[in-house]
Amino acid sequence: MLVLGLETTCDETAAAIVRRTGEGPGEILSNVVRAQVEEHAAFGGVVPEIAARAHVEALDGVVEAALEQAGVELAELDGVAAAAGPGLVGGVIVGLTAAKALALVAQRPFVAVNHLEAHALTARLTDGVPFPYLLLLASGGHTQLVAALGVGRYVRLGTTVDDALGEAFDKVAKMLGLGYPGGPQVERRAETGDPVRFAFPRPMFGREQPDFSLSGLKTAVRLAAEKAAPLSEQDVDDLCAGFQAAVTDVVANRVRAAARLFIQRFGQPSALVVAGGVAANGSIRLALTRLAGELGLRLIAPPLNLCGDNGAMIAWAGAERLALGLEDGLDFAPRPRWPL
Ligand code: KG4
Ligand code: ZN
Repeated sequence: MLVLGLETTCDETAAAIVRRTGEGPGEILSNVVRAQVEEHAAFGGVVPEIAARAHVEALDGVVEAALEQAGVELAELDGVAAAAGPGLVGGVIVGLTAAKALALVAQRPFVAVNHLEAHALTARLTDGVPFPYLLLLASGGHTQLVAALGVGRYVRLGTTVDDALGEAFDKVAKMLGLGYPGGPQVERRAETGDPVRFAFPRPMFGREQPDFSLSGLKTAVRLAAEKAAPLSEQDVDDLCAGFQAAVTDVVANRVRAAARLFIQRFGQPSALVVAGGVAANGSIRLALTRLAGELGLRLIAPPLNLCGDNGAMIAWAGAERLALGLEDGLDFAPRPRWPL
């Protein structure tokens, strides 16, 4: 089964062609991502109106490149999928409308994909992980611990009561004058920093319910930065290292709590899976690898190019739904809010 997937929910314009032959892994024939980093850099974050216009300008070329690199004609596709949310509505409309038009022209089924589900199913695309598995979904807008029981069957075990993990990285980067997106910048600066110079709190540590709270940690970084001002390069490195160490500890502790809850309710998971942009963080990956080892679980973390937003995950989620006979009408409306 050959599926084209479009992703336009945030600041990446992406299209990909994926082949599904069974439960997974799938085959990625092309995966074209055009990031809008420059468009938003000056604003220190994604500007919705600018993002929507940039998607309009880029999408045709990105789709053409995806078809060409895969060596696939529109007529050979078995379906066209687009992320229909959650995300910025202007961008979602662009991708959704294009996918519907392509499906209509090719006379193939259209699938509206939940962007979060696409992140959640990436481990099946890359590794063919069987259900059920424990998933940490950590991106710029979402932080969730989920029991993935089947396609379309997810039970949320925990979430954040305030900032998302990626959002906390982005906000810390912003307050320290580092660029956007903040996660990679903070990680890079932390490499040369001292993680114990600043003793930052580990919010929610030890709580049974696997929730996160990150705003207190963010405030602690801000206060420490104000106290140490004017900041030297080394101060910034140390603040980043201290923050990343605290976040890493919190993530490991919260995932441990979620694993306990998972086993109580659903038995042994087939794997521990991490997905979303924050899954690119080396310190968090390392801590999760250790934790998975302790729990006797395999850790599945996507390759770096599949951590952030991409079309391949949308195409794969579309293929998984099509394989179950699920497709959507061309009247499917954008869902800016769409919980997993
Ligand atoms: O999944 P994603 O590409 O987009 C959303 O759906 O939000 O995630 C983007 C988020 C941003 O907040 C970014 O700062 C964060 O992932 N991120 C990282 C790293 N790379 C990206 N956070 C920590 N460390 C990284 N290396
Ligand atoms: Zn995402």
